Amino acid sequence: MNIGENVIELDVVESTNKTAAELLSLSKAMHGTVILANMQTQGRGQRGRVWHTGVGLDLALSVIVLPPALRVEEQFGLSKMVALAVRDSVQAFVRQDVRIKWPNDILVERRKLAGILIECELVADRVRSAIIGIGLNVNSCDFEAQLVASSLHLESGLNVDRKAVLDILLEALRTRYSQWIGDPNGVDVDYTAALWSKDRWADMVLDGVVENLRPIDVDRWGRLLVEHLGGRVAAYGLDRLRFAPR
Ligand code: BTN
Repeated sequence: MNIGENVIELDVVESTNKTAAELLSLSKAMHGTVILANMQTQGRGQRGRVWHTGVGLDLALSVIVLPPALRVEEQFGLSKMVALAVRDSVQAFVRQDVRIKWPNDILVERRKLAGILIECELVADRVRSAIIGIGLNVNSCDFEAQLVASSLHLESGLNVDRKAVLDILLEALRTRYSQWIGDPNGVDVDYTAALWSKDRWADMVLDGVVENLRPIDVDRWGRLLVEHLGGRVAAYGLDRLRFAPR
């Protein structure tokens, strides 16, 4: 089954990722199944944060994928292809350059328009299933200042049709998924080219200390490769490195 061939639309759920996990545990989910909710009461963000979706305004969905023979150490490839698909769909509505802030936030300048939360089920050295949670701000306007968030509406000045965004997003996911299966190196190249702050010096927090570093690429495990002042290049995971908040 193709991504988006089966869309389960629900009015209110705790979290679409949680509903997707329940379906998977009951063996009731096929590859490509989409869970779409109008409202989430406990939307999950990265690092245990809460994710808010404007009711009737934004998109909150989870896509179940069953990747063929994906090794655990290759799973960042999945994250890259999803980030590219979400970025492609945001770019379809926004004139300014849309970029991917490592590992997978979707930004215009410093403003976040979409977030991705991927939860994988690992069996031995393989990824058996992945739940791809996507929150995309479509028509919301009111964001807490410290979130530095935005929406398609705020960026384009238009009232954007959520159904049109969903259709474009699902098409982009199908396209990028096929690319990833057939040409994973192409996904690597496109992800690197879309990296936010690539080749630009930025304040980052490394082991709790703010340092000026220059992101260059990611390595095969998804760690960010950065240049230190003085030229040394090293790779760090999210356990040690993140962009400094502004
Ligand atoms: C982030 O913090 O940037 C990730 C946000 C992911 C939010 C989406 S909304 C749909 C899906 N269900 C959830 O509970 N979370 C993800």
